[in-house]
Amino acid sequence: MNNVLVTGGAGFIGSNFVRHLLAREPRVNVINLDALTYAGSLENLTGLPDPARHTFIHGDIEDQPLVDALLREHRIDTVVHFAAETHVDRSILGPRKFIQTNIIGTFTLLEAVRKFWLVEKAIPLGNVRFHHISTDEVFGSLNPEEEAFSEKTPYAPNSPYAASKAASDHMVRAYGHTYGLPYSITNCSNNYGPYQFPEKLIPLMILNAVKGIPLPVYGDGGQIRDWLYVEDHCEAIRLVVKHSHPGETYNIGGDNQPTNLAVVEMLCEILDEVLPSSPYKPHAGLIQYVADRPGHDRRYAMDITKIQRELGWKPRWSLEEGLRKTVMWYLDHQGWVEAIQQQGDYQTWIEKNYAERGGSA
Ligand code: NAD
Ligand code: DAU
Repeated sequence: MNNVLVTGGAGFIGSNFVRHLLAREPRVNVINLDALTYAGSLENLTGLPDPARHTFIHGDIEDQPLVDALLREHRIDTVVHFAAETHVDRSILGPRKFIQTNIIGTFTLLEAVRKFWLVEKAIPLGNVRFHHISTDEVFGSLNPEEEAFSEKTPYAPNSPYAASKAASDHMVRAYGHTYGLPYSITNCSNNYGPYQFPEKLIPLMILNAVKGIPLPVYGDGGQIRDWLYVEDHCEAIRLVVKHSHPGETYNIGGDNQPTNLAVVEMLCEILDEVLPSSPYKPHAGLIQYVADRPGHDRRYAMDITKIQRELGWKPRWSLEEGLRKTVMWYLDHQGWVEAIQQQGDYQTWIEKNYAERGGSA
């Protein structure tokens, strides 16, 4: 791992990963390719450790000539592929962009590395790796009594987002099987932490609560997710890229299963404690049940035995600790919050997604 192309490195997890890699791998150069869609921002990349080893390229992963040129120019030996459309609600209201970015974009990257690494053999095959970031959502939804997702669980994606991620996972695997591409895939659960775009549950709830805006819980709030603090995810990815054998996939998660309502209530309790004079205390009074997400997956759970056993990784932060750190980060980064909320289509999206949900399930 010398010259790493990180795609989507101006987004939430990507920008945390860029920071993590620069801090933890002192000889690595990072080439960060990001289209700066509504979800990406240069605000996420301020104050990087050792910025001389970071090069930002404003561009699209679907731009084949650009991606081909970047691989050659920077002699890329490792690709860590985050770039994607990632919000399930947006995929329900407008799936086309998800097909385009998540499937065609991944295909474009695969073609570029096939040419550069496998046809031209520009870099010894033992030194290259295409690492693809996937999600637990490709496995579908679990009943209450079903066992957690393992690496052997069959894919059963339910939303357009999840289906587009599943398709891209299959393409990566096919390039490994057919052309011998050295790849790895990680399927991770819900991340939270600094720099998450506030369309997602945790930052949305924190920022709404602080301003006394209702907290829109979909359906009965009984859906179950597994939550992982983003720094733990970054550490897991780095270990997989460095130490795993090609062709392996790993499930990553926080080993917890709260309901959405429980997560929102935990956030409200933390806010009650850290903002004792808030006029909106108790913040849980702001919870409002709204119309459910169509096709909403009821339960995810992750079996993380494989990555624990093979690479010695486990989450460092409990959900309680991670939520507390996250609340404090959002309260301490008001400038970032304002810049992000003013950018792109944030307000338009909020109006579009919540206007028709009403105030009760
Ligand atoms: P995000 O939406 O915060 O960021 C996505 C980034 O990709 C943005 O910076 C955006 O500008 C960039 N991008 C989008 N289309 C692009 C294109 N065509 N070319 C170049 N850049 C483009 O996403 P995130 O939450 O950080 O997720 C990153 C990856 O991790 C995704 O692949 C997602 O599926 C996966 N994942 C996310 C979670 C989660 O909880 N957030 C969990 C598991 C897996
Ligand atoms: O599981 C991994 C996935 O987690 C990633 O692959 C996705 O990219 C990421 O967006 C996330 O998907 P979710 O749909 O689980 O995340 P979101 O934050 O949108 O929603 C979390 C849960 O909270 C989900 O059950 C829907 C619910 N929810 C969400 C919002 C935005 C609400 O109840 N109210 C809301 O306003």
